[in-house]
Amino acid sequence: MHWTDTHCHLNHPDLYAEWQAVLFRAQQSGVHRFILIGYDLESSQRAVELAEGSDLLYAAVGIHPHDASRCSGDTLHHLRELAQHPCVVAIGEIGLDFYRDLSPRTVQHEAFHAQLQLAAELGLPVVIHCRDAYDELLEVLRDYPSVRGVLHCFSGTAEQAQRGLELGYHLGIGGVVTFKSAETLRSIVRTMPHDRLLLETDAPYLAPHPYRGKRNEPAYLPLIAQQVAALWQVSLDALAEQTERNVETLFRLQPLRKVPPTG
Ligand code: NI
Repeated sequence: MHWTDTHCHLNHPDLYAEWQAVLFRAQQSGVHRFILIGYDLESSQRAVELAEGSDLLYAAVGIHPHDASRCSGDTLHHLRELAQHPCVVAIGEIGLDFYRDLSPRTVQHEAFHAQLQLAAELGLPVVIHCRDAYDELLEVLRDYPSVRGVLHCFSGTAEQAQRGLELGYHLGIGGVVTFKSAETLRSIVRTMPHDRLLLETDAPYLAPHPYRGKRNEPAYLPLIAQQVAALWQVSLDALAEQTERNVETLFRLQPLRKVPPTG
């Protein structure tokens, strides 16, 4: 049994300094494949550097809505170049964040559209970040019918989840599903189609229970998997098989033939 962490930030300063140790701990807990997600140009470059030449690490490149005001034509040009690397499997994380509003909303929209266009052009899926903006965001996604992707760390309502699924998107489920207060999310997960769920940690953020509030690591992914398996009433083996297939379908990865030995 092995897992893929579909959303982690080994490229983030909190993890980068000891990324090899972080990877080692993850492998010891059965997490063998990682998609490293960029959030600005520098972190996207770093994700590509880490992933290049590895068949267990992949990269997504993109400008987070917080940084949308730095998403100039020049930045997009660099992003387009980075996105051509064979280790890049998605554009992201991109989207809208009306909770923190760190970039003006019109600017967030512009950056989002530009990067969706890039994804459409390159035939890559997208990794979507959204907070307090699902209705607007889903309207935007409707304009890009050829693009598929994942609504990372999904935090919307059941109705918004339904609309996302109808548009062909996956839901990224992370540590929040283990929080006491997350009853809405658990009920969404319980009834959603099994072929649309991706497991993710979002490390170093959003550590699952009982590490809530601490620095998160991909090694904690199995804690999230246990919660999902309980909600679906399936075995961990069955869940791993399903979610690995989901990862391989969306990001067009080859199945892992042999899990490398750990320890
Ligand atoms: Ni993230």
